[in-house]
Amino acid sequence: MLGVNHVPSAWSNTSRPKLPIPALVDGTNGEPVDLQIRSGQWSFLPGVMTPTLGINQDYLGPTIRTRRNTELNLNYRNTLEEGVAIHGHGLHVPGTVDGGPQLEIAPGDHWQPVLSIVQPAATCWYHSHTHGRTGDQVYRGLAGMIIIDDDNTTSMELPNRYGLDDLPVIIQDRTFDAQGRFVYSLNDAGEDGWFGETVIVNGVVSPIAEVPAGKVRLRILNGANARFYIVAFADGRPFEKIASDGGLLESPVSLTAMEMAPGERCEIIVDLSDGRPAELLTLFEDEVDAEGEGIVGNLLDLLGGSDSPVPRPSLTLKVDRTLLAHTAPVPDRLATISRPAETEIINTRDFVLNMDGDEGHGAHAGHAAMDMTINGSAMDMNVINEQVRRGVWERWRIRSNQGAHPFHVHGCSFLVEQMEGVAATPDQQGWKDTVVLDDDDWSEIVVRFDHQATEQHPYMYHCHILEHEDRGMMGQFTVTDPTG
Ligand code: C2O
Ligand code: CU
Ligand code: CU
Repeated sequence: MLGVNHVPSAWSNTSRPKLPIPALVDGTNGEPVDLQIRSGQWSFLPGVMTPTLGINQDYLGPTIRTRRNTELNLNYRNTLEEGVAIHGHGLHVPGTVDGGPQLEIAPGDHWQPVLSIVQPAATCWYHSHTHGRTGDQVYRGLAGMIIIDDDNTTSMELPNRYGLDDLPVIIQDRTFDAQGRFVYSLNDAGEDGWFGETVIVNGVVSPIAEVPAGKVRLRILNGANARFYIVAFADGRPFEKIASDGGLLESPVSLTAMEMAPGERCEIIVDLSDGRPAELLTLFEDEVDAEGEGIVGNLLDLLGGSDSPVPRPSLTLKVDRTLLAHTAPVPDRLATISRPAETEIINTRDFVLNMDGDEGHGAHAGHAAMDMTINGSAMDMNVINEQVRRGVWERWRIRSNQGAHPFHVHGCSFLVEQMEGVAATPDQQGWKDTVVLDDDDWSEIVVRFDHQATEQHPYMYHCHILEHEDRGMMGQFTVTDPTG
């Protein structure tokens, strides 16, 4: 049986909620965007309130819309009684405004970073990055989406009406106790990180979105703490993947299912012109592909299998014919991605993620032991692990001693050459900031950093399984210009 979308029995089919669309805040006019980090309560389950964290709202935060070649002024205010660092995941900005753990906002304090947006259009996100508590704070709700536009994307015939045919889809999984409170414990998280039982999309269980009878764009974020998802439609309908973490692919790639690791984003276009509802499924890869065989190819056989009930949709798109539809075909050509020549790649670094732990590090007060490492070192705020030169291409090779991990790098987008020893497939050949690796073979990326990160405000590289990150599977690096 497919053990997916475990839904408390109180949810009947008739009480499905509407897909909440986070408020859109315009960050393009130079005015500061006020972002209040606060506590709240939110109803995930019928008739029960769950204590939560959010930004300007009870759970999650608004979608911040910005544009290439503008300045984005953010004004965070931390109204909690705990410190919070908030990172802009996927943004190409200097270390001083990146929001890593060094930039923790104390209770009652403000933080007002000014971000020069110079990168191409992309779907990014912001989330807690507090030292040792990222998993806990993201789980409780500290995350939101950032949409970067540019002249290229807005001149193209792509659905772009936010909340109508351009929908933010933040997929997460959560476990609730009998009182409806979140169940989370870094200390009790298994080796694979913390797995929730119930899928939520934009903070609700199995919602419905009414959409026009045409092309609909979904900006899907795997906002899970630890789960890898396989995303597909119940009827097996194909969709066009148009963008990955760092922006548009060169050309759309038609898929019927895709794997998404924690932290990854995909923009897809699905066609609803036939008027039939589209049911988006979120399968837990650890359950449907426990052997790690790469199930995506035969997922549809699996779904069609007689003993497997079709799982509950995590989101249903339902057509409303009164809405004006976007019907133009998806452009064949979306972007130009220029790869460095081999001779331009001047340095190679290797990173090995290690699950075994090194007893020597001991437990930090209130945190689980820092027992997971990269190249033998657990995250230490006082140690710079790598020094990188600005503006030059490097090849980074990453693998683990055990299992699959999403490796994320701050301050850049990179190109994937190999994933787990296999050449990147067309849908992985766009700009990325998170790449999956495992213990069988190297994943290889080519990367160049164009902004500065000093010793005081370094960038991070880390596993995006948040419990691995919080247990030390993270390192710090500077990006500087050569001196002298
Ligand atoms: Cu999305 Cu350093 O993280
Ligand atoms: Cu990041
Ligand atoms: Cu990991």
